[in-house]
Amino acid sequence: MNAVLGVSGSVAAYRAADLARELMRSGFTVRVCLTDSAQEFVSVALFEALTGQPCLIDTFEEPERGRMAHIDWARSADVVVVAPATANTLNKLAAGVGDDMLTTLCLASNKPLVLAPAMNPQMYLHEATQAALALLAERGAEIVEPLEGDVACGENGQGKLASIPAIAAAVLDVVSASSIFKGKRVLITSGPTREPIDDVRYITNRSSGKMGSALARAALRLGAEVTVVAGPQAARLPAGATTVRVETALEMHDATLSLASGFDYIVGAAAVADYHVVNRVSGKMRRSAETVHLELAPNPDIIAAVVAANPSATVIGFAAEPTSDLSVAATKLKRKGLFAIAANDVSQAGQGFDTETNRLDLVFADGRTASSELMSKHQCAKWFWEQILSAKAVR
Ligand SMILES: Cc1cc2nc3c(=O)[nH]c(=O)nc-3n(C[C@H](O)[C@H](O)[C@H](O)COP(=O)(O)O)c2cc1C
Repeated sequence: MNAVLGVSGSVAAYRAADLARELMRSGFTVRVCLTDSAQEFVSVALFEALTGQPCLIDTFEEPERGRMAHIDWARSADVVVVAPATANTLNKLAAGVGDDMLTTLCLASNKPLVLAPAMNPQMYLHEATQAALALLAERGAEIVEPLEGDVACGENGQGKLASIPAIAAAVLDVVSASSIFKGKRVLITSGPTREPIDDVRYITNRSSGKMGSALARAALRLGAEVTVVAGPQAARLPAGATTVRVETALEMHDATLSLASGFDYIVGAAAVADYHVVNRVSGKMRRSAETVHLELAPNPDIIAAVVAANPSATVIGFAAEPTSDLSVAATKLKRKGLFAIAANDVSQAGQGFDTETNRLDLVFADGRTASSELMSKHQCAKWFWEQILSAKAVR
């Protein structure tokens, strides 16, 4: 296993030497990348002697002629860990700045990223730092939170680099998690559908596709091969997923059913319209004094059809209900023959459609339930997969 250890310019830089050794004891080949500021605190010679590997410090340095080191290192790493991570480096990572070797390498990497901040408590509490950390966590980085206590500048508060065993454990966790779904194929439906009334108007719903995107991102982090059948959603889908774009519920049905047989896990996170307009007008419906009646016919139940098409897959549905009563979701689960259903009480603030956060109640076919806290959709997606995997292990 290969780890890139990024060291930035904090007083805690000297502790990265212990982390390098700890990671080596855990079986990693460690290659250290130092920022210019880090070299004010620790030396390249120290890390080269400890790791037996050359350090990387300059973006334009090419240890092997004609090869771009930042790309080579990003490719060969199983994990990138930045410890200590300064406020400056965290903000650059969040903004996608690549103005030194470490930030350029992180930009070139699609591997798990572990960040261990260390700084003065005011720097840690600064809105910019907190926003950067939230954004990086949202994108899937593992943040090993700094500890409270006396920091080098004489202040007391949160900002001390986490303990070396805690950082090493987080690195091992993300690396082992990234192979949990190795060889597994995950299909997710995501976002709303649109049911045309005429060529310029449609019926839709409030789904943003954020939960579907978060589920896809979390499955990719676990090492799955992910395909998303996505309606016209606002949320960006992760680059690592194969995307099939559809508009109507019928198109989503056809696309999902044509793919279903090849997948191990199928999650119906899309908010699929229950009805489509039968008397759709071609062209643009004109204003008139008459009352207009739309005739709505039911759409097929995609997730129930998926269970019939691929009985060996683990199929999980979502149920957005304006109630905390799980019996409606449990009835849906039975009727559709699902492995589990994630009930979303959309009557509560901060969860369900077009929010940044969510809270899920999972109901399993064997009657067990699990409830999450209110958390970011990214954390909720992580929680979702953990629950599904542990329920599979119990069976
Ligand atoms: C003595 C000293 C200690 C510092 N300690 C920290 C620190 O613990 N955390 C931090 O975010 N910045 C710290 N800084 C500020 C950073 O070194 C500075 O923002 C620098 O530009 C960071 O560059 P880098 O992120 O490229 O390493 C310290 C500066 C000095 C002079």
